[in-house]
Amino acid sequence: MTGSQPVVDDGTTAGERDPRVHEKTAGEEQEGIPFIGAGPGDPGLLTVKGRELVEEADLVVHAGSLVNSELLEEFCADAEQVSSIGKDLEELIPLMRDAYEADRTVVRLHSGDPAIYGAALEQMDALEHEGVPTYFVPGVTSAFAASATLRTQLTLNEVANHVAFTRPQGKTLSEDEDHISEFVAMGDVTTCVYLGTHAVRDTMDRLLDDGRDPETPVAVVYHASWPDEDVIEGTVGTIADKVEDAGYRASALVVIGEAVSGSGYERSYLYDGWANRGSDGEDAAEQTEADD
Ligand SMILES: C[S@@+](CC[C@H](N)C(=O)[O-])C[C@H]1O[C@@H](n2cnc3c(N)ncnc32)[C@H](O)[C@@H]1O
Repeated sequence: MTGSQPVVDDGTTAGERDPRVHEKTAGEEQEGIPFIGAGPGDPGLLTVKGRELVEEADLVVHAGSLVNSELLEEFCADAEQVSSIGKDLEELIPLMRDAYEADRTVVRLHSGDPAIYGAALEQMDALEHEGVPTYFVPGVTSAFAASATLRTQLTLNEVANHVAFTRPQGKTLSEDEDHISEFVAMGDVTTCVYLGTHAVRDTMDRLLDDGRDPETPVAVVYHASWPDEDVIEGTVGTIADKVEDAGYRASALVVIGEAVSGSGYERSYLYDGWANRGSDGEDAAEQTEADD
């Protein structure tokens, strides 16, 4: 904001709106620090709303190497940019709070969608506790970029009816909390494993020990939507060797299930005339919505 123009009722200067107050829907405004999903990597996959907010920012706190530097260069080269990597809440919260209170426009950029393995809410709650309002702006999570790369659907008629977003056991998750094997056992679930690139062999060994079919398809999508994107395809029985040969230890999504191949599906009713047939209009409408 500039200080030279007269200040109007809402605290903005005449002829200029406060960039920290944003249109949510028609007539509804959101104020505060937006927690924005930067998308999986390709700057073109940042939402229009996310891009507008980033372009207006004075301070961009971002998720380090998980956010493509091209995006930062393209949309906010003039803003102060701070990586959150290696910083704890005690450092991040005062940094964002002080900037906001100094009337600077602050945005927090998380990779993918902030609601998936993003630890956004604890930062938002801490900021709100300090009197700084916050809100979410969703982004494209890496599972969606990976399914686009694989040219498949995560739900696929007669192949996969459900999707699980999960992570393997490790420092954060105990053995009991690791449900990958249960999801795979269900058969019609596409299991998207985040934060598991370094643990592909352990994960596959556990699946084999639990008696899961070694022929179950698995794809490991490294840096989905980035220029150096790579796909390794295999099965529960073969993928670990392939990933180790490729040398990937981070930044990949592990997708397990029959939908990985994009084959074996049945045509949906929607394009078969079913939706418009019969007397039960409610069922037909539900099916139309479901298949859209
Ligand atoms: C801390 S989590 C953040 C997830 C992010 N919030 C999202 O919605 O995609 C980081 C993990 O997301 C996955 N990931 C993030 N970006 C990716 C990409 N472009 N391609 C493949 N996997 C990615 C990897 O599994 C990585 O270990």
